[in-house]
Amino acid sequence: MTTAADVLARCDALAACSDNPDHLDRAHLTPALAAAHGLVEGWMTAAGLRTWRDQAGNLCGRVEGREPGLPALLLGSHLDTVPDAGRYDGMLGVLMAVAVVERLRDEVTTWPCALEVVGFTDEEGARFGTALLGSRALAGSWDDAWWALRDADGTTLAQAARDFGLDPARIGTAARQPDDLVGYLEAHIEQGPLLEEADRSLGVVTSIAGAQRFRVEVVGEARHAGGTPYPRRRDALVGAAEAVLLVESTARRTGAIATVGQISVEPGAVNVIPGRAVFSVDLRAATDAQRDATRHELLTGLEALCAARGLRMTVTDLYEAPATPCAGWLRDALRSGVVASGDGDPMDVWSPAGHDGMAAAAVTDVGMLFLRCHDGISHHPDEAVREQDVAAGLDAFTTAVREVAHHAPARTAPGDGRSGARAEARA
Ligand code: GLV
Ligand code: MN
Ligand code: MN
Repeated sequence: MTTAADVLARCDALAACSDNPDHLDRAHLTPALAAAHGLVEGWMTAAGLRTWRDQAGNLCGRVEGREPGLPALLLGSHLDTVPDAGRYDGMLGVLMAVAVVERLRDEVTTWPCALEVVGFTDEEGARFGTALLGSRALAGSWDDAWWALRDADGTTLAQAARDFGLDPARIGTAARQPDDLVGYLEAHIEQGPLLEEADRSLGVVTSIAGAQRFRVEVVGEARHAGGTPYPRRRDALVGAAEAVLLVESTARRTGAIATVGQISVEPGAVNVIPGRAVFSVDLRAATDAQRDATRHELLTGLEALCAARGLRMTVTDLYEAPATPCAGWLRDALRSGVVASGDGDPMDVWSPAGHDGMAAAAVTDVGMLFLRCHDGISHHPDEAVREQDVAAGLDAFTTAVREVAHHAPARTAPGDGRSGARAEARA
């Protein structure tokens, strides 16, 4: 049986699949992602799953229930990373799902549903700026306009897909129908400090924050750094610097969370006043209303400060995902799992971090189990989880999956009777 120690050893092995020799960096549709698929597919097969890769680049595996083609309970997380990542954000959830299927595979053949594991691609959105591309394809909310997105090297998403062996014209085959699915359950590190502060191994997620990403371009005038007196300067970077402070102060005031994680300046010479500055904004809040009110307040403030400095501002929306409540019946099953694992009274937590469940919720109910991570640190190579917490997480997830499978709304094999196997055949 795959133990918590084995799961952690697999996370270590996956961390070697990187597009950068100096640190872990595994973006959507890269050679490193293909290498990771190779490893995970091997572990899926050993766990008894039949595997395939869908046309979005998600790695999928399935074991049938008491008859072929029943709706599937999906388990999973993502296999892509941010640049200079830790080794647990995403990967831990996929590998725990594989281990849980291995524990349950002999029972599944008597269940009224199938079990599937999905290793989503592009939860982070690090390469093309928009996130959840894999889970959005699975949820059937793909937008063909995304094929024209470009990475930092100018490669379009469509070209990257072809280079990865996918056929953009067949992206629709990755989509699942509500009747194909029982629900989606994901285990993930908390990426925050609440569980550690409460001395708890596990938490049950109540909801996932609503998120938005946009780019702000500030245009002034590039001129001589020495010869231009202050009253005549329209310095785009000084305006952007003020804007960054405004991003923080606005979000603090409204209770949202906003981050400027990227900024670039042109022409970028030591003796030239910056004529153009472009920065990113990542905005999250517990509710969509709070997020949207924060955005409105922020943009009003940015316009005022740009006007005061004679700067022009343009905002380009890159990504939006709604706040996502986790389904009550899946939360109940996870709570039973936490109790069975010996972690005591289940602790509820909400997630300011984004997850594939935000996209999956468009097609099925979602539930999430959080595991304590050291110092709440994530999106950093120092990400760490304790083996005892992974062991508790495996026990809790196993119990929850069993409970969900037995309390799933009664359905028979839908439509043509092939459900997830239909997606497999189309892939
Ligand atoms: C993904 O980790 C996100 O929350 O941006
Ligand atoms: Mn993640
Ligand atoms: Mn992440």
